[in-house]
Amino acid sequence: MDRLKNYKKNTKKSSTLFSKSAKFHVNGVSHNIRYFAPYPFVVKKSSGKNLIDVDNNKYTDYWMGHWALILGHAPKIVKDALRKQIDNGWMYGTVNEQTIRLSELISKVVPVAEKIRYVTSGTEATMYSVRLARSVTGRKIIAKIDGGWHGYTSDLLKSVNWPFNESESSGVINEEQIISIPYNDLEKSIEILKKVSKDLAGVIIEPVLGGGGCIPGDADYLKGIQEFCKKNNSLFMLDEIVTGFRFRFGCLYPTMKLDPDIVTLGKIVGGGLAIGVMCGKKEIMEVADTTNKKKSERSYVGGGTFSANPASMVSGFTTLNYLKSKKATYSKINELGEYARKEITKAFDGKVVVTGRGSLFMTHFLRDGITEVKDSQTASRCDTKMLSEFHFKMISEDGIFFLPGKLGAISNAHTKQDIQKLVISASKFN
Ligand SMILES: Cc1ncc(COP(=O)(O)O)c(C=O)c1O
Repeated sequence: MDRLKNYKKNTKKSSTLFSKSAKFHVNGVSHNIRYFAPYPFVVKKSSGKNLIDVDNNKYTDYWMGHWALILGHAPKIVKDALRKQIDNGWMYGTVNEQTIRLSELISKVVPVAEKIRYVTSGTEATMYSVRLARSVTGRKIIAKIDGGWHGYTSDLLKSVNWPFNESESSGVINEEQIISIPYNDLEKSIEILKKVSKDLAGVIIEPVLGGGGCIPGDADYLKGIQEFCKKNNSLFMLDEIVTGFRFRFGCLYPTMKLDPDIVTLGKIVGGGLAIGVMCGKKEIMEVADTTNKKKSERSYVGGGTFSANPASMVSGFTTLNYLKSKKATYSKINELGEYARKEITKAFDGKVVVTGRGSLFMTHFLRDGITEVKDSQTASRCDTKMLSEFHFKMISEDGIFFLPGKLGAISNAHTKQDIQKLVISASKFN
């Protein structure tokens, strides 16, 4: 039976429910990337490494809640902590001790976090970081990476998807104030930055390109961009929303000897609940101080009704506290990632490059003479349709879920046997 037929046969309730969803929601979804053809299965519950859909199909999940769930779905310690918090209320809209505890934990291991502001999504964290950079420097232009994804903020909605020179969306104004540079190509990047140096407020970069292809940044590249920013009095901003607390207890940047002005966090630090975090050096973050600054002096940054709500703060704190006391979690999942990269490459017999770092990995089906993938442009020239087909095959035949076309994340709930199952599936893909 072909894959599509098999999928439709096994997901009848999902099909009916998704048709209903499409009546209420554009594309049937609330986040564009969650749609895949012919229709995404509808999830009824999750636990550990598994998603279970309304037809009772069980999937070993590598999407892991947009890569946020480092301890797996619904881990008991977070569940217990949340239950306790719910008894004491889950939305205060006021200062609370839960937030202070989380900040204490983050600031001990993230040196740049001299001051912190919480929001409820990564998008907001990057949006505010851009505003702060413009306020601090009095300049307008922000540089980002070709293929860099920082959420849906209009300020950074440019050069995300191939072809990078086409607008991502109507409705975005002042696009000329966002410029983009090629990842891991220092010479070209500096050449582009030099052209706008007088107006350059800051550069925002992920130390591992996530949505842009799961591509690690070269330390020398990142250092070179940082050096340019420092000399040019532009802010050097690292987006660690994917990478923060993913590979080690803390951010990735200290291991590369980087010294950013602002770091954004999200995903893992919310323990599965909504969060975005701006961490920055004191003198920069204090430009957001509203208690002693006039409108014209301050940067109006941060907040939102649900910012620093005690539920997100508790789930984030509990998750990080667990990781702090069980650092072996990182060696375990990092090794599984290494194993996955090696074995998937072997299974495809040289037809792929599997990029990534630690517990994040992505398979690129090679074509056009490509032999390595160091930037988004190259990743986009690989056979991305084949990757989506591979992922759909696993959904339909093997009970393995990657959001089609996206990178995979290994959690503490995954085992070596899970990766072996994935490798067998890869070896049978044709
Ligand atoms: C690097 C990076 N920054 C920002 C965001 C946006 O975060 P959110 O989806 O929480 O708004 C994402 C989301 O995937 C991301 O990968």
